[in-house]
Amino acid sequence: MKKCRLARHYDRFMAPVEKAELSTRRRQLLESIEGGSLLEIGCGTGVNRPFYHESVKAFFSDPDEGMLRAGFPGNNAASQSSPCFCSMAEDLPFPDATFDTVVATLVLCSVNDPERVSGEIHRVLRPDGKLHFMEHIRGEGKHGIWQDRFQPLWSLVSCGCHPNRTPLDILRAAKFGISHLETFDPFKSFPPWLRFCLQIVSPFISGVAAKEPG
Ligand SMILES: C[S@@+](CC[C@H](N)C(=O)[O-])C[C@H]1O[C@@H](n2cnc3c(N)ncnc32)[C@H](O)[C@@H]1O
Repeated sequence: MKKCRLARHYDRFMAPVEKAELSTRRRQLLESIEGGSLLEIGCGTGVNRPFYHESVKAFFSDPDEGMLRAGFPGNNAASQSSPCFCSMAEDLPFPDATFDTVVATLVLCSVNDPERVSGEIHRVLRPDGKLHFMEHIRGEGKHGIWQDRFQPLWSLVSCGCHPNRTPLDILRAAKFGISHLETFDPFKSFPPWLRFCLQIVSPFISGVAAKEPG
């Protein structure tokens, strides 16, 4: 499985960004999901959990036990009845067409193989299922070239996060149609020098994708 040395500090590290904008974006992305079964991949410390409607039957997966321990204290991930388990999203332990909804926020940047993960999301979703996603993406022009150059260093210090992936292309290649999409910069209220540094992981997108018919 995976182990990030920052797991214990993840929530504290993300708190200013959550407060500035991410938390609102998460709520907007997830509040419309009602009922049915939901799988969240790369759930980390479970920051999305408070935004799920109580009618949703949610399962949480992440390959990093440290993240799961930090976010789901007291949970026994090995228990059959646990809603939360340790798993790489490249190999989801579910039959085809199991879930009404899959949620992935800030995950396709971190997985080893985003194409394979998108294929797995597609596989475990029911034909009319929806993927709710939020990711940071490669910028355009010089911004993207700068992200390409700094990617190896950034990946090293951030437990494998890639600042220069193109999740929309990857999802479309996996036969998803994007039905709703918003682009934003969650750092816009930050001091200019910090906002400049954090352009390494900006812009962000959030949206909903559906399986293309056929
Ligand atoms: C930046 S954190 C995002 C956590 C949370 N989803 C959020 O929105 O804050 C990336 C998460 O992806 C997980 N991850 C890394 N590789 C993965 C993989 N191959 N499959 C599933 N999750 C993975 C990490 O353990 C981590 O919890």
